Formats: sequence, C-alpha cells, structure tokens
Amino acid sequence: MTGKKEPWDQYHDYEGLDKILTAQTMRSAEAGNPVHDEMLFIIFHQVYELWFKQILFEMDDIQRRLANDIVDDRDMQPILQYLNRIVVIFRNMLNMIDILETMPPQAFVDFRQYLSTASGFQSWQFRLIEVRLGLKREDRIPVFHADFDHDLSEQSKAHIRNAEDAPSLYDQIDRWLSRTPFTEWQDYKFWEEYRGAVYKMFDDKAAQHPQDKDEIERGRHKFDSIFDENKHADAQKQGTWRMSLKALQAALFINIYSNEPILQGPAQLLNSITDIDELLARWRYRHALMVQRMVGMGAGTGGSSGYGYLMETLQKHRIFTDLFALSSYLIPSQALPPLPEQISREMGYRYKAQEDAA
Ligand code: HEM
Repeated sequence: MTGKKEPWDQYHDYEGLDKILTAQTMRSAEAGNPVHDEMLFIIFHQVYELWFKQILFEMDDIQRRLANDIVDDRDMQPILQYLNRIVVIFRNMLNMIDILETMPPQAFVDFRQYLSTASGFQSWQFRLIEVRLGLKREDRIPVFHADFDHDLSEQSKAHIRNAEDAPSLYDQIDRWLSRTPFTEWQDYKFWEEYRGAVYKMFDDKAAQHPQDKDEIERGRHKFDSIFDENKHADAQKQGTWRMSLKALQAALFINIYSNEPILQGPAQLLNSITDIDELLARWRYRHALMVQRMVGMGAGTGGSSGYGYLMETLQKHRIFTDLFALSSYLIPSQALPPLPEQISREMGYRYKAQEDAA
C-alpha cells in the first residue's frame, strides 16, 4: 500500500463530500412517513448556507482592505471584483427560488411538522451578513418577546456581537467617501459650485414659470439637507439621511463625474453596493411571496407573523437607502458646473512620455 489515494477518493476528500452528502436527513422518512419534497427543502437551505458562507468570505477580504486609513489604489481592483461576485451570487440566490417553488404547498404541509421551530430566521450567517453590511440592532423590526438573536446559540450570538462592535461595510463606505479627494482642491469647492448651479436652475425656472413659485421654492428647499450642515444634522435625527454630509456630497460628486478616469472605480463600487442592497430587498420580496404561497398568512415556524413580518423587513431592513435617495438630488447635465480643466487633467490617466511631448 503506497497510501496514494485513488482519483475518485482525491476528489471526494478535497471537496469533503463525505460530510456534505451525508448531511441530508429527511425527518419525515425517519418518522416512517417519507415526503418526497423534504429532500429539496433541505438541500435548498444547505446550498443557501454555503453561498452565505462564500459571501462572508468575500466580505472578510473587502472589509480588511477598506479598514485601512487610506485605501491603496491597488486594493480597488480586488474590492470591485469581490463585490461584483457578491452581486452575482445574490442574483443567483434570487433566481434559485424558482426551484423551491416547484414544491406544492401540500408537500410542505406534509413535512412541516418535522421542522418543529426550525426557521431560516435562525440562520446566524444571514444575520451576520445583515450586520456586516450595516443593519443595526436598534433599526430592526421588533418581532418577538426578545432580540432577533434570542434563539441563536451562544457562539452565534458572540459572532454577531463581535460584528456589531466592528465597523460595518456601511461605516467603512461612509468613511471612505468622506475622504474622497478632489471635492475640495486648491480654490475649487465642488459643493459651492454645485449649490450655485442648483440655485441658478431654480432661479431660471422661477423666471420662466412665475405661477409655480411655491412649488419651485419647495424644490429648492429640498436641497437644504445636503447643502446645510444643520439641516443635514436634523435630517439625520429624523432618519431621513443616515450617511454623513461629507459622504453624501462625495457620493454625488462621484456619480456626477463618474466618467473621469479616477472616479470610474469608485462609481463602480457605489453601483455594486446599490445592487447588493436592491438584490437583498428583492430576495426578501421573493422569499415573502414564496412563504405566502406555502403557508398563506399563517405564522412562521420561527414565531413571527410570517408573510406580514417579512414584507415589513423589505422596507425597514434596507441599509444603503441613502445611495438611492441621492438620485433626487441630481440635476440635468446641461445645468451641471463644468469641472475646472486643471482638476479634470489631474483626474485623468497620464503617461510621462505624453507629458514630456506636450
Ligand atoms: C417553503 C419554504 C420556506 C418557508 C415556508 C419559509 C418561511 C419563513 C418564515 C415564515 C419566516 C419568518 C420567520 C418565522 O417566523 O419563521 C422566514 C424567515 C427567514 N427565512 Fe424562510 N422560508 C422558506 C424558505 C427559506 C429558504 C430556502 C431560505 C434560505 C436560507 C430561507 C431563509 C430565511 C431567512 C434568512 C429568514 C429570516 C428573514 C428575516 O428575519 O429578515 N427561507 N422564513
């Protein structure tokens, strides 16, 4: 015996298939009343948990790179790559629901009793994803007599507490945006330029449509919360904005001038974060519809009101809504303040040879 493994064993060993393929216990079969669809139900959740694991693995790397006071330019590529991978995984997790919907509600009813109080509600990896993205304990919908992690093991609770004590991706993005260069550069202050352009746009509108004066004034005031520190602080207290003023202004700057070479990466990053938030909301929606299809308006095995609770999370457990809300502060391109030539050149890619030739 050489101890050398056969090819099929190597594959099985490497992939840990002995553990994975023996981890599907159909409780209905154990009880002597096998329900065919229970296998799909188990495998489906397991596949999700594996994808959750992969998402957390990608987040480890992304968050390690974003933790630096100054994010190295060379870190941008892996950050974008892994964020995009998370987006693609989420998109697939969303579409995968089609597969579980091949299960008729009757089949679910037939084995549901064997789940006891088991529910995706107790998925600590899903909770960790939410927390690490930036969902705060105090912003969660109160469902039970106790906290959302009440039914988790002590070890899982510890994982969640540790994540809550560390900066979330949301915090990191806020800080990273706040440090965006070029919004203030030499005499140029993007913010003053933008405010000037917005006010001019409203002045022009008022001159053209004096009869709409009040409405135009309301439109102008809407911008106060991103122009004025005190108004922004009030809006933060009321929960209208969560991001810091500097981060919001930088995100707008990046969106507006996203064609500038140096801003293309940051614009992609914001786009991926927006995708993730949207896909998570879409997953919540599809999951809620599937739940309604399977159990109607009945309570969940985890103890919530079921469909009603899940639909509420769709609105209330969003995280990066600021990035969506910012779109109502964009103005038409024709009204935008042009970037000073010098800044635009600084933000471009230049080569020494070209400069020498100039
Ligand atoms: C027949 C299929 C399913 C049904 C009937 C169902 C039902 C429910 C219900 C009723 C809840 C609310 C909590 C409770 O009271 O139990 C819930 C939560 C949850 N389920 Fe499912 N579920 C199904 C499939 C899945 C799958 C495949 C996953 C993937 C892992 C999943 C993940 C979750 C998660 C993460 C939550 C917590 C959501 C939150 O609190 O925001 N569920 N599920």
